[in-house]
Amino acid sequence: MAGSGSGLFITGTDTGVGKTVISAAVVSLLRVRGIDAFPMKPVQTGCLRHGKEWTAPDLEFCLRMAGLKVSQAEKRLMMPYGFKKACSPHLAAALEHRRIGISSIQNSFRILRRRHDLMIVEGAGGLLVPLNERNTMLDLMKALALPVILVARPGLGTINHTLLSLGELRWAGLPVAGVIFNETKKRGWGLIERDNMAVIARRGRVRILGRLPFISDWESPSFRSFCERHLHPMIPWLNSFGREESRPYLSNKRKQSSGHASIS
Ligand SMILES: Nc1ncnc2c1ncn2[C@@H]1O[C@H](COP(=O)(O)OP(=O)(O)O)[C@@H](O)[C@H]1O
Ligand SMILES: [Mg+2]
Repeated sequence: MAGSGSGLFITGTDTGVGKTVISAAVVSLLRVRGIDAFPMKPVQTGCLRHGKEWTAPDLEFCLRMAGLKVSQAEKRLMMPYGFKKACSPHLAAALEHRRIGISSIQNSFRILRRRHDLMIVEGAGGLLVPLNERNTMLDLMKALALPVILVARPGLGTINHTLLSLGELRWAGLPVAGVIFNETKKRGWGLIERDNMAVIARRGRVRILGRLPFISDWESPSFRSFCERHLHPMIPWLNSFGREESRPYLSNKRKQSSGHASIS
């Protein structure tokens, strides 16, 4: 078991909800606080070829946003499984006659963890996405045993997806640090979004760690200050990382009250 001091797992209710953007935000916000937070994307589908190397778009984005430079050898540890076809990991692996193994991901994780303070691990798709004929993304999460941030859409349809995901995470016994709502489209924040957030906080008994509005300026310094501003409910936690005060965020018990449901 990796234990809660080893990192965070960023998962989502679906693909395309903003896991990569939130991973980049968390890495950047921790690094600016002097913590050597390091991204990992254990399974990347839809890899792009650059010369002789395959690159992971999600990792490249995180590295760019955090202003991090790493060697090719380290990149291979950060992305132990990369596949060309942009589809579910089990299918992408089968098409290349490969099999995704949780233990080799754990090995890469352990090596990186020894070199860095904290690993920020991004899943692929949602929780029940298959990795092979037996295991799902949730099995990998259980093996790494990291506290989880769940990224969700703010708009219509999110209540069901988010509560189902929270149910699976609790059933698996994983500590849920909280939910972040992320706006991948410029729709604004109206009655439905406000109500969705309140319902999810209350019924899911979960902490809302922030809501990231639609971003039009991706330049690195402004991205970080934008995230700092909009993810303000999680800032005290990030400030206390590694200390005793951060523990209440990492309980796998359902939160009894939902104090952050009213952020705007
Ligand atoms: N807050 C945001 N503002 C603008 N675009 C966003 C935002 N969050 C995500 N996106 C865009 O939406 C798409 C999906 O986001 P991404 O983080 O890659 O999702 P996931 O990792 O869950 O598949 C990407 O093109 C990304 O640039
Ligand atoms: Mg991603």
